[in-house]
Amino acid sequence: MTFRYGKRVTAFVTALCLILGLLVISPGFPDQAKAENQDPVVKKVVPTFTGDTKTSKGFTWYTMLESTGSDLQVVKKTGKKKPDFRKAIKFTGTSYVSTNDSGERVHKAEATGLKANTEYYYRVGDEKMNIWSDTGLVKTSKKNGAFTFLELTDPQAKTEEEGLLAASTFNIAAQTVKNYDFMTVTGDFVDNGVVEDEWDWLINNSKKVWGNTTVVPAAGNHEGKNNAFIDHFNVKPAASNTDTTTDAYYSFDYSNTHFTVLNTNEDSEEFRDFTPAQVNWMTSDIKAAKAAGAKWTVVLIHKGPYTTSNHATDDDIIDPNGVRNKIAPLIGKLGVDLVIQGHDHIYARSLPVNGDNEATQPATITEWLNGQQIDYSVNPDGSIYFIPATAGPKVYKKNIDPVLGDNFYSKFVRAEENHALKYGLDPSNPTRPVRGAIQNFTSVKVEKDRITVVVYEIDRIKGGAPYIVDQFGIQKDGK
Ligand SMILES: [Fe+2]
Ligand SMILES: [Fe+2]
Repeated sequence: MTFRYGKRVTAFVTALCLILGLLVISPGFPDQAKAENQDPVVKKVVPTFTGDTKTSKGFTWYTMLESTGSDLQVVKKTGKKKPDFRKAIKFTGTSYVSTNDSGERVHKAEATGLKANTEYYYRVGDEKMNIWSDTGLVKTSKKNGAFTFLELTDPQAKTEEEGLLAASTFNIAAQTVKNYDFMTVTGDFVDNGVVEDEWDWLINNSKKVWGNTTVVPAAGNHEGKNNAFIDHFNVKPAASNTDTTTDAYYSFDYSNTHFTVLNTNEDSEEFRDFTPAQVNWMTSDIKAAKAAGAKWTVVLIHKGPYTTSNHATDDDIIDPNGVRNKIAPLIGKLGVDLVIQGHDHIYARSLPVNGDNEATQPATITEWLNGQQIDYSVNPDGSIYFIPATAGPKVYKKNIDPVLGDNFYSKFVRAEENHALKYGLDPSNPTRPVRGAIQNFTSVKVEKDRITVVVYEIDRIKGGAPYIVDQFGIQKDGK
C-alpha cells in the first residue's frame, strides 16, 4: 500500500470500527429475553377490569379456530393450597374470528360476583376440548387503602427479537416491583397493530406478567385500526355506541382513586385526536368521580400534551384545536392529579400545570426513599404530566424546535436528553438514538394522602440490572 492511500485507509478503518461498534451496541439484547412458549394452545391471555373492580374481572384469550367454547373458571385462593378447578365457579363467554388473523379465534369472558380485596386463581379455555391456559392469579380491588401499580409504555417491537426485548422489560419490571395490584400500559403495544405475530411476540414472551395481574390498556396510534385494541382487551367502553374499531375510552375506580383512560385515535374539527362526545364524557366522568368522593384522579393518555421529544411539536398537539391547547386546560380545570402519557419515547415530567396551561411552583417536602431524595409536591395547583419513556427498543431525541416557545421547558422538572443518546445514533436512522439500549418502567404507589412514583431504567449495554432514575410524589392534605 502506498502512502497516498494512507488517509483513505485510516478513514476506512475508522468507519469500519464505528459500524462494528454500533453493531455491537444496537442489537445487544439480553440473555433473559428467551422465548417462554412460542406456540401455546391457549395464548395471549389478558385479564382486565370490566365494570366494578371489586367484584368483576374480564378476560381475553386466543385459540385455534376449532376451539369454540369460551370457558372461564375461578377458584378463590385460600392459604397456600393449589387450586382445585373441579370446585371452580364457572363462567361462559363468547368468541369470534380474530380481525387480524382469520386462523385464530378471540375469546372473551367475565367473572362477576367476586369478593373485594380477594385473590382468585383462574384458567380459561375450552372445557369440551379440555384445553386450558396456564393457571393465573388475579386480585380484586380493595374498598379502601393503599395500592401500587406498574406502568409501562410503547413496547412497540417490530421484529421478533425486539419483541423479546420488550417482553423482557415487562418480566424485569414485575420481578423488581413485585407486589403490584395491576399494570397500566399507555399505548403502542406493538409496532403494527394489524400484524398478529407482533402481539404474540410481546404477550407470549412475558405471559406470566400479563396473566397474573390485571392490565389497564390505553390504545396508541399503532393499534388504532382494525379492532386491534378491542380484540385484545376485554374492557367496557364508556359509551356503548362509540366506534371501537380504533380503540375505546373507559374509566374505573380502584380503592380511593378514579382512573380515566382516553382514546387519542379519534378526531374532529373541534378537537384533534378526540371527538366532542369523548371530551364531554371525560368532563362528566371526572366531575362525577370527584363528587362521589374519589380522593385521587389519574388520566391515561397516549398522545399527551406535555412531552419533550418529536411529538411535542406535532400538529395534533400544537394546533389551536390540538391536545395541548384544548385538552390540557380541561384536565387542569378538572383538577386531575397525575397524567400518564406515552407516544414520545423519552423520559420527562412536568411541574403542576393549571387550567390556564401555566406551570405553578408547589411547596415541597423532601424525604429519602430507596437511598435517594424524593420531593413531594404539596397540594399542587395543577396536573403533573409524566412520560415514562419506553419499555421497548424505539427512542427519540429531545425536541429543540423553536416552535415550542421560550417557556416550554420551564414547565418541566425533568426534560433531559434521551438517556439512550450516550450510546450514539441509530445506524438505520441517524435522527434517533441507538435502538434497544435503554428501557424504562415505573411503579406508582397510591396512599390516602400521597402518590409516590419511582421510575426505573434498564441499560442493556451495562448488563440490564434495573436502577432508579427518578422518583417524585404528590401530597394532598386535608381533602
Ligand atoms: Fe410509540
Ligand atoms: Fe404513539
